[in-house]
Amino acid sequence: MQDVTDAAFWKLMHRYGGADVYWTEYFRVHAVSRPEKWILESIEQNSTGKPVIAQMIGNDIPSLVRTAKELQQLPVAAIDLNLGCPAPIVYKKCAGGGLLREPQRIDSILGALRDAVSIKFTVKTRVGFNSVEEFDMLLPIFAKHLIDLLTVHARTVAQMYRLPVHYDLIRHASEAMKCPVCANGHVYSADQALEVLNQTKARGLMIGRGVIRSPWLFDQIRQRLRGEAVTYPRGRDVVEYVHALWESQASFDAPEKIQVERMKKFMNYLGEGVGLDGSFLHQIRRAETKEKFFNICQEFLDHDEQARLEPQILIAGKSSQM
Ligand SMILES: Cc1cc2nc3c(=O)[nH]c(=O)nc-3n(C[C@H](O)[C@H](O)[C@H](O)COP(=O)(O)O)c2cc1C
Repeated sequence: MQDVTDAAFWKLMHRYGGADVYWTEYFRVHAVSRPEKWILESIEQNSTGKPVIAQMIGNDIPSLVRTAKELQQLPVAAIDLNLGCPAPIVYKKCAGGGLLREPQRIDSILGALRDAVSIKFTVKTRVGFNSVEEFDMLLPIFAKHLIDLLTVHARTVAQMYRLPVHYDLIRHASEAMKCPVCANGHVYSADQALEVLNQTKARGLMIGRGVIRSPWLFDQIRQRLRGEAVTYPRGRDVVEYVHALWESQASFDAPEKIQVERMKKFMNYLGEGVGLDGSFLHQIRRAETKEKFFNICQEFLDHDEQARLEPQILIAGKSSQM
C-alpha cells in the first residue's frame, strides 16, 4: 500500500505474526522512470524472512519490461502488475485500474512481461472499470498468459472502496484460472476471512486496511483455520501497538506535528474499530502534539477488556457482505 508498506511496517506486522508474503508499494514505470529508491530499500531491508513481491504500475511496454528485468535481479519472489489503482491521476493516464478499459492493451502488456520475467509473474486486478460485466472479458486474457497468481480485488474502479465486494466474481476466477487466485477486499475478521475463503475458493487472502487496523488479524485467521478459538488483544495491547507504530514511523528530522499527522493516517483505519460513537477518531483527528495524541489513546484504550477492532456490523454478526 502506497506510503504504508515499507520494511519498517512489515517488521512491525511480523512481530504480531505477520503475513506469509508481502507486496511492495507500486513502482511507477514510464519512459524515463528509475525504480524508486525508497521502495528498493523496502526490499533490501526486509527483515521478516518472508518473501516480497515487487509491484509495478504503468502501461509503456518497453519501460515495464526494462523495469521488470531490473527488479527480478533483487531478492523478490515475483514481479506483479497493478491493474487496480483507482486514483484518478493514475487511471486517467491509462495505468492501474485505467488499463481495464483497454483489454487489448492488457493482452499486449501481459504477453511482453510474461516473456521478460523469468521468475514468477503475478497480476493484481479489480473486476472491471465501470461494470462487473467486464470481468468475463478480462479473465481469458489473464488465463492466456500463464501468470503465476491472480489477486482479485472484487470491486470495480468506479466503485473505489465502496461496498459491495463481489466475492462471487472471485469464485468465478478461481474456477476459470489454472493459477492460484488470491481474494482481496474488505476482510476485517477471522470469521469473515474464512467465509471469504469458502465462498470464493481462493487459495489465499490479500489483506490491506484490516491489518493496519489490527495486526493480530493474521494470527487470528491462522487460529480459525486450525479450528482454535480466536484470541483478541486487550485495550492496552492496542495502545502498545500504537506506540510501536509511532516508533516504526518515527523520523528524527520530521517535526512532531508532521509525525502526529502521519499517525492520524493510520488511526483512520484503527479508530473505526474503537468505540461505537466515533468520538475516539473525532478526538484523535484534533490532536496536534504527541502527548495529546497518546493521552487520547490512553483514555480510550488503557484497559484490560477485549478490543476486537472490527467494524461494528461484523461484531453484530450482520455482515452485509456475505
Ligand atoms: C492507502 C492505500 C494504499 C494502497 N496502495 C496500493 C498499492 O500500492 N498497490 C496495490 O495493489 N493496492 C494498493 N491499495 C489497495 C489495497 O491493496 C487493497 O486492494 C484494497 O485496500 C482492498 O483491500 P482491503 O479491504 O483489505 O484494504 C492501497 C489501498 C490503500 C487504502
